[in-house]
Amino acid sequence: MSEKKKILVIGGAGYIGSHVVKALLANNFAVTVYDNMSTGQPCNLFTDANFVGGDIADEKKMHEVMAKGFDVVIHLAAKKAVGESMTNPQLYAKNNISGTINILNAMTDCGVKNIVFSSTAAVYGMPKYLPIDEQHPVEPMSFYGFTKAEIERVMDWYSKLKDFHYIALRYFNAVGYAADGSIRGKEKNPQNLLPIIMEVLSGKRKELQIFGNDYDTPDGTCIRDYIHVEDLATAHIAAVNELCARPVSHIINLSTGKGTSVLEMVHAAENVSGKKIPFKFAPRRSGDPAIVVADNSTARKILHWAPQYTDMEQIIQTTWNLEEK
Ligand code: UD1
Repeated sequence: MSEKKKILVIGGAGYIGSHVVKALLANNFAVTVYDNMSTGQPCNLFTDANFVGGDIADEKKMHEVMAKGFDVVIHLAAKKAVGESMTNPQLYAKNNISGTINILNAMTDCGVKNIVFSSTAAVYGMPKYLPIDEQHPVEPMSFYGFTKAEIERVMDWYSKLKDFHYIALRYFNAVGYAADGSIRGKEKNPQNLLPIIMEVLSGKRKELQIFGNDYDTPDGTCIRDYIHVEDLATAHIAAVNELCARPVSHIINLSTGKGTSVLEMVHAAENVSGKKIPFKFAPRRSGDPAIVVADNSTARKILHWAPQYTDMEQIIQTTWNLEEK
């Protein structure tokens, strides 16, 4: 029997990271999670994965862990609040840029050659055309988006200068939870639409504010490309397999290619929960594009991957299942 491939998942206790770990274990990888537990949650850790508590800012510890040797690193540890990145760019520079450079240098020092990097739709900025493909100009409008774009550029240089390969996965809007209910750690202080809708449904918030109803879209509310977190997780498995098979680097959108408006999300969540969602229209949120929908043909072609969740009510159901009713 061939040896299990060894994967280091940095940020493996977080929302997307825990789903990636679950998928890796199901696919027979040997998994080590490295997480500082700042937003990661103990209930998201799997006993079948090794756990090392630590921060990516800690160069010594990062080297110690990396020296154990891994076939692939998956790096999901990042600060990701767009608004905060504009008021506290130093924090984002330190964590998302310096922290990631510590990881890349520990890799090159220890002979670890492959990384799957969590990038984001935020690197594109205001869409110049739709659907957004990977050739779309990279002009982030937030410091958060800038930190991710910057690391993509550093990785590209390293891939030219060293025996180093990367796949940067540009996630669109991640939603949902493992359908089997095995991951229960909800994000604290959620900033995104669906978790906020859940807080309204559970009575933690009085009502939803819908930011703008005068956009140039069929119902006037913004359209986004919502992708189920388990589909994101299977794309990571495909990226790991691709890096193990071929030493070639890629940048790849992870999206469904389908748009859903804020009002459509509200109505789908009402159907799933059987409850009314009180909402009011509020002014536009600054920097919000009317429509974000992405082309996922590169993921289909290179990763031989396709999203399995296509129905929004089914997607929302996986989140609603976790709510205490
Ligand atoms: C989010 C991230 C962005 C990331 C992208 C893809 C934030 C602020 N932005 O973008 O960095 O690149 O996902 O992963 O986290 N909305 C409301 N009311 C609310 C909350 C949201 O109407 O209370 C609307 C927004 O105006 C937007 C849509 O819902 O049109 C989705 O918003 P959100 O979940 O914050 O995600 P994005 O801003 O699209």
